[in-house]
Amino acid sequence: MIRTEILATGIYVPPNLVKNDDLKEMMDTSDEWIRQRTGIEQRYWADENTSTSDLALEAAKKALENAKIDKSELDMIIVATLSPDHEFPGTACFLQKKLGVPGIPALDVRQQCTGFIYSMSIADQFIKTGMYKKILVVGAELHSKGLEKNQNGREVAVLFGDGAGAAVLAAKDVKDLKNDSYIYSTHLHADGNFAEELWVPGPGTGNGPQRVNDSKMNEGYHFPKMNGKTVFMNAVKRMPEAVMEALNANGLKIEDIDLFIFHQANLRINDMVAKQFNIPEEKVFNTIQKFANTTAATLPIGMDEAVRAGKLKKGMLVASAAFGSGFTWGSTIYRY
Ligand code: ACO
Repeated sequence: MIRTEILATGIYVPPNLVKNDDLKEMMDTSDEWIRQRTGIEQRYWADENTSTSDLALEAAKKALENAKIDKSELDMIIVATLSPDHEFPGTACFLQKKLGVPGIPALDVRQQCTGFIYSMSIADQFIKTGMYKKILVVGAELHSKGLEKNQNGREVAVLFGDGAGAAVLAAKDVKDLKNDSYIYSTHLHADGNFAEELWVPGPGTGNGPQRVNDSKMNEGYHFPKMNGKTVFMNAVKRMPEAVMEALNANGLKIEDIDLFIFHQANLRINDMVAKQFNIPEEKVFNTIQKFANTTAATLPIGMDEAVRAGKLKKGMLVASAAFGSGFTWGSTIYRY
């Protein structure tokens, strides 16, 4: 039976370390406020000449190296990002050019914090139907150029970091459904009624006669706007729902899962999800302290870091869930 295996991952974060205290030069904030509310201790921000596809390229090269496959074997590239290099074409096309694999399909996914789960799901469907055998799935974000780094934007600006994570997904002839490594299932959701609770209003065609509007630009419509409390309240509801959906779909219980790798928006969100299910602390792998919220990149970064920390080993059963702008949310269970 053809199923999808996660062959290997790779990550890249830019070299500039930004500690919470460094943000005090830009806005009225404190290390204490940020740690208490979010768990974030630091983040990495790229320099001015870097683009999202540059981060994606480095993560992709590492994933290919770790998977021991040549780029010529790839059948498709999927890139999840909310911070694209340009409005069009998609960042997957720029990554494709930099990676040097012309000809294969290159697809962008715009599902923000749930982007990596959506991308995994798309790749999984292409592989299970037999259309493709090896797909590079990347989550990459360069938030730092898009944040309002002053008093106006402080509620959002402190939350985000830059980084990329990539995974090589490949077809596998699964013989033993209980013990082989493969993606068991993916579960996707969205509710556009909440689209304006966490969004970047412009530039865009939804802003009246002009796509780019100078006066709205002066008001900062190109910076992210967030209703933090609404996001938080929905995240702590939707993420557990998504975990339960994945468990039920596979006839599994919380105790069957070896490791939980959740999206990294706020440590308090993940602690509340873990508490609802009585998941022991050692079974939840968080990276937000080190990287902040890298949106579409948090899950592959989590996988890769967990492997290198010795927390995620071949054969372990993993559950992941994410929630974010859209609102979008989803989950997956896979045996690594
Ligand atoms: N430093 C200091 N004070 C700040 C900061 C800051 N960086 N930002 C806001 N404040 C102030 C506010 O002005 C407000 O002050 P006031 O009470 O005088 O008006 C106060 O702190 C708000 O504090 P709290 O009510 O304690 O804040 P809350 O507990 O809501 O935490 C937070 C805020 C961390 C943003 C929280 O709402 C949150 O994490 N929400 C979810 C965020 C999230 O998941 N985002 C997903 C993004 S990912 C994606 O899809 C793109």
